[in-house]
Amino acid sequence: MEAGHRVEVMHGVNLDQLGRRDPDHYGSLTLTQLELTISDAAAALGLAVRFFATNHEGAFVEHLHGLEDLADGLILNPGAWTHYSYAIRDALELAALPAVEVHLSDVDSRESWRRQSVIGDLCVGRVAGRGADGYREALQCLLKEFSR
Ligand code: DQA
Repeated sequence: MEAGHRVEVMHGVNLDQLGRRDPDHYGSLTLTQLELTISDAAAALGLAVRFFATNHEGAFVEHLHGLEDLADGLILNPGAWTHYSYAIRDALELAALPAVEVHLSDVDSRESWRRQSVIGDLCVGRVAGRGADGYREALQCLLKEFSR
């Protein structure tokens, strides 16, 4: 199937440490393995994916700045930045792309500070606690959005 819409998948702080983080929350896949499963899911849905990962908030912000004309939609797991980074929120607003917030773990049933998302209201969807499968659900959510 020809790859259609372009989806940028952005991993934030500490996501590069997957495979070493608590498997009860984050599963056992490394980031590379997770990206392979996302690529497979995207190909099956006819979507083109690109990945970006950083532990630097400014780099995450600048990547969002540069997405104009390069992506049709976004999947973001900003890690802990989700809960407090107004800088990322402002950059996401600027990017003006349909975005889905993803968390591997069930952030709503963990510490209370993880329940807060400063980007949630800018997103067309949110998936949490579904592990790697959550990214497939996020791709499906964007696919629906693209067909509107
Ligand atoms: C996370 C949840 C965040 O609370 C945490 O800080 C992360 C990962 C997740 O994928 O479940 O680093 O975004």
